[in-house]
Amino acid sequence: MNIRPRRLRASAAIRDMATETRLHPSNFIAPLFLIEGENCKEEIKSMPNYFRFSLDLLLEEVQELWDMGVRSALLFAKAEDHLKDNEGTEAINPNGLMQRGIRAIKEVCPDICLMSDIAMDPYSSFGHDGIVYQDEILNDETVDLLTEMAITHAQAGADMVAPSDMMDGRIGAIRIALDTAGFINTGIMAYSAKYASCFYGPFRDALDSAPGFGDKKTYQMNPANSIEGLKEAQLDINEGADIIMVKPALSYLDIIQLIKENSPIPVSAYHVSGEYAMIKAAAEKGWLNEEDAMVEVLTSIKRAGADLIATYFVKDIIGFLKNYQ
Ligand code: PBG
Repeated sequence: MNIRPRRLRASAAIRDMATETRLHPSNFIAPLFLIEGENCKEEIKSMPNYFRFSLDLLLEEVQELWDMGVRSALLFAKAEDHLKDNEGTEAINPNGLMQRGIRAIKEVCPDICLMSDIAMDPYSSFGHDGIVYQDEILNDETVDLLTEMAITHAQAGADMVAPSDMMDGRIGAIRIALDTAGFINTGIMAYSAKYASCFYGPFRDALDSAPGFGDKKTYQMNPANSIEGLKEAQLDINEGADIIMVKPALSYLDIIQLIKENSPIPVSAYHVSGEYAMIKAAAEKGWLNEEDAMVEVLTSIKRAGADLIATYFVKDIIGFLKNYQ
């Protein structure tokens, strides 16, 4: 035997030298849940150790994340029930919670790359990502709303808007609208291959945004499809996206790889709420080591080709990386 692969695994030093994939704090995007109120920090039941914050406390959280080395945050705002309707009126309120949140975060932490969620579901009385007409989710009417929403986020100071809705043509429409309004430097992170997944369950608890009827299968993708994911990614690249995303991550590592191999722009992956909850639940039962599972999963997402990873483990993984280095 002249080739013995085990030689490269013989000691911690050699294994370290031969490591192909390394996680770094700058790889991570921190999802943030903003709620109305003051001095509120609520744990999300199905996402242990992850919280919704009122703006005052969220500002401290963002500062802490920045100081740890996180470069980017992805903001979601929970709309109060009485503000929800079928037109998404509150989504385009220049003084809505999201818009106030963006302004305040950029004031306190101007250097962080702040991305804002663009989608109707937190504002929709139907819990859908689009305007509903006779049980149908209207595409073009929704895109019009999303472009207006993006402009209010850009006006508030968002560095990037992140459309998570899966309507057709929204990236191009948002790009044109931003440019026309003078926001040529506001970027777009497109949720390009977003699958109709059961793993979003805990997130819908966090924002109280579960669909009131039906499901999201007429706009989010069929989990059985991969070439279609490539098509969605290529469309978004052509329409002007700066970063494209695959979501969820762990069940879609092949999609991340396929899209990364074909993309001239950075690829992100969203390690979603249900993926977080699975590890938390198994660890709580003593069936998995939480830290080992977190590191293995996040490493595998980067190994598949994700340049950036949005994850609720953001603080834990950076803490781990700090101890390790
Ligand atoms: C909705 C949206 C969802 C997530 C991000 N934006 C849920 C959905 O599509 O129903 C899920 C994120 C997660 O599960 O962590 N626009």
